[in-house]
Order: sequence, then C-alpha cells, then structure tokens
Amino acid sequence: MSDRQLTHRTPVAVLGLGPMGRALAATLISAGTPTTVWNRTPERAGPLVALGATAAPTVTGAVRAAPVVITCLRDPAAVDAVLAAHDDWAGRTLVDVTTGRPDEARALADWAAGQRVDLVKGAILTPTPTIGTPAATALWCGSRSGFDAVRSVLAAFGGTPGYLGPDPGAAAAYDMALLDLFGTAVSGLTHAFALASAEGIAPRSFARYAAGIAPMLAEMTARFADQLTEDRFPGDRSTVASAGAGLGHVIATTDAHGIDSGVLRAARSVVEQAIAAGHGDDGLARLARSLAPARPA
Ligand SMILES: NC(=O)c1ccc[n+]([C@@H]2O[C@H](COP(=O)([O-])OP(=O)(O)OC[C@H]3O[C@@H](n4cnc5c(N)ncnc54)[C@H](OP(=O)(O)O)[C@@H]3O)[C@@H](O)[C@H]2O)c1
Repeated sequence: MSDRQLTHRTPVAVLGLGPMGRALAATLISAGTPTTVWNRTPERAGPLVALGATAAPTVTGAVRAAPVVITCLRDPAAVDAVLAAHDDWAGRTLVDVTTGRPDEARALADWAAGQRVDLVKGAILTPTPTIGTPAATALWCGSRSGFDAVRSVLAAFGGTPGYLGPDPGAAAAYDMALLDLFGTAVSGLTHAFALASAEGIAPRSFARYAAGIAPMLAEMTARFADQLTEDRFPGDRSTVASAGAGLGHVIATTDAHGIDSGVLRAARSVVEQAIAAGHGDDGLARLARSLAPARPA
C-alpha cells in the first residue's frame, strides 16, 4: 500500500511503553524522529517526554499524530485491545513487534487488510540494551511495500533490518523456534545450578565449567543444521543411546536430592522414542528428525 520511502523525520507513534517500547521510543527520539507515545498506564511516558517525545492521552491521539504506528505490547490480546480503541486506521503503516504465535500474526494481517493498513510484523530477538546498537537483531515480514517504506525508521533500532518475506507469520515462526531453544536452555541452566548446589558445588565453581557448554552448543548448532539438511545422522561422536544413559544418571542423582526432574524426564522420553524407533546408534541431531518429519523449506 505504501508507495513512498519514509525518513527518520517521519512522525512515528509508539503504543506500549514497557521496557522494550521505551527503548524503541528513546532510540527514535535520539535519531531525531518526531515521536508520539501512548501507554495504558500514562505515567510511564514521563521520562520519554523529558527526552522530547509527545505524550498522547488516547490511542486515537497517537494514531492521528503519525503515519507509522509501532505496537510493542505484552501479547497479541493487548494489541487487539489497543487496535479496538481507535476506529480509523486507513493509510497507516503498522509495525507490530509484539511477541506472539505465527497464526496470531496472520490474523493481525487479515485485520490490517480489512482496514487498509500496511502491516509490517517484527520479532525482536535481542534484549533492550542492544536497541540502537549494532548488536540489535530483529526479523521483519509482512507487507513488502510497508517494509521498504519504513526501512530507514527501523534502521534506527540497530543491526541490519532483515526482511523474511510476505508471510506475516514468518518472523513469529523464527521467534517461536528460537524461544523454544532459549526457554529450554534457561531451564537446563537453572536446573544444573540447582543440582550442583545440592551436590555442594559453589555457583562460581560450577560456572567455570558450565560456561564451556555454550561454545559446544554453537558448534553443534551448525553441525546439526548440516546433518538435518543432508538427512544423515552419523553416530561417530556420540549416540542417542549414550545420551539416554547419561540422562538416566542425572535423573537418578536429581531424584536422590528430591529436586524436580520433570524437565530431564521429558528429554529422556524423546530419547527413548528415538531408540524404540531404531535410532539408538545415530547422532543426536536425529532427535530433531524424530520429533518432526522433514518439510520442504
Ligand atoms: N524486554 C525485552 O528485552 C524484549 C525482547 C524481545 C522482545 N520483547 C517483546 O516486546 C514486547 C513488549 O515487551 P516489554 O519488555 O516492553 O514489556 P511487557 O511487560 O511484555 O509489555 C508491557 C506493555 O504492555 C502493555 N499492556 C499489557 N497489557 C495491555 C492491555 N491489555 N492493553 C494495553 N496495554 C497493555 C503495558 O501497559 P502498562 O504499562 O499499562 O501495564 C506495557 O506498555 C513483548 O511482546 C516482548 O515479548 C521484549
């Protein structure tokens, strides 16, 4: 719908001033972008007004102030509530960076099409301190013309804005898989600290060795990607059966301390299913294929 390239001087409205919304708004203000902010709890706008933002008392006031509206809210239900608070969105470019499911993003795109709104859907992958720096990473999808129009606005957030394609659910799809990795990794990390503590190991002593796992995972990530692409799972370094035995020892040790071992039992269940299907001698990337069959990219 958009047919013009907007600049960093184009007014932008930011709806939602949690930690991320505040970081985005502050970055826009620093870039010289005329920025209007709105938040359900109005007091949060104060520090941004001190930096140069205009606080709108209502969603309607914010939307009327800017052709580009960024929504950065708790969840898609909050986005729906905020969108419903204004009744004429036609002609706006909506940049929604609220975390949610791919199907929710596609439903938002249906709403946008009905309202003659250009929807750019984003997923911010890095925390607030990265915003406005080269370390920021965000994925964008949805309207191509909308993305091209707001590219220079998004550039203020840092990193290199990457466009995945027109599917409005694409950024959320990456985000969900990456949050899957992050959530289970944090669960493993906190569980490991708990088990180490139960064994009398001081947190800093444990950290000295635990920190070595992260580079191992980085190498495994690239290797697993190759193996899944090539559909081959050599067990030359380690096998599914061996990993299952290791998990059994950890579960027994955890249980002996009375620590919840549910997260480990879930992992072992996946291993056991792969072994039952005859993949015990395969490498660990096999577990991803056992969980879900290959789909054409
Ligand atoms: N923080 C990060 O590092 C980070 C990183 C990547 C992605 N994100 C994503 O960015 C989005 C915002 O995150 P956040 O960290 O800024 O804080 P958040 O706690 O997830 O969201 C807070 C914002 O949502 C608003 N809100 C919640 N329910 C609402 C409703 N029903 N109606 C209107 N407003 C509502 C809050 O308003 P009130 O102030 O009135 O409560 C506040 O503005 C989330 O989707 C998050 O997943 C955050």
